[in-house]
Amino acid sequence: MTRLSVNINKIATIRNARGGNIPDVHRAAIECERFGADGITVHPRPDERHITYNDVRIIRPDIKTEFNIEGYPSEKFIKLVCEVKPHQVTLVPDPPDVLTSNAGWDTIKHNDFLKDVIAVFREKGIRISIFIDTDISKIEAAVNTGCHRLELYTEPYASGFPYGPEKAIQPFIKAAEAARELGLGLNAGHDLNLDNLKYFSENIPWLNEVSIGHALISDALYLGLQNTIGMYKRLLSE
Ligand code: PXP
Repeated sequence: MTRLSVNINKIATIRNARGGNIPDVHRAAIECERFGADGITVHPRPDERHITYNDVRIIRPDIKTEFNIEGYPSEKFIKLVCEVKPHQVTLVPDPPDVLTSNAGWDTIKHNDFLKDVIAVFREKGIRISIFIDTDISKIEAAVNTGCHRLELYTEPYASGFPYGPEKAIQPFIKAAEAARELGLGLNAGHDLNLDNLKYFSENIPWLNEVSIGHALISDALYLGLQNTIGMYKRLLSE
């Protein structure tokens, strides 16, 4: 079954709006797990505008499910990941000032860079996933970087879904098939929500994991965190 990793960055965004420790990001991570999340994702950015590097260190020892750290592999990021040793690191090609991740890696252009970074994480026994678009040539070029999984950037699926789910999912099925044939595991994330998640996961049943933040934390405002996580989990298991 596809696993649900809850991205808790948005909770840190609310906390940072005021300073202090409300809402408590550490507690939120523990509660997400208690309510059924299969993993916790954090995305520390260089300006620490949501999750801070210190949050990552504090949360890590108490995560009983899968801890996934995503981000651009700057020197500081690599050092943090090697220190904290999450179960999975997801490499994202974000420029530092971008609002949110908005593209996958160019695995052809940055092949040597990715190879070097991935070798460091492999040595620490950390699973590596790389954020990628549905372009098959980029997927094929990912294999020799040494990554274990790909995370499909699902924003184009989410934005196309209301106008025609079948058309929106097609490139993702092709990309997912290519990844499977190449022996790579598969994650997905970005703009997945209660409307579009079920269709995505039932069309790609070999999907290992989805990472969801913005919509899930927003739904929790209306529906409660426990109820919301239960709803997302049901969509993945039906
Ligand atoms: N995956 C990656 C690599 C991301 O950068 C993000 C956003 O931080 C997500 C998944 C989750 O996207 P969303 O917040 O839209 O659910």
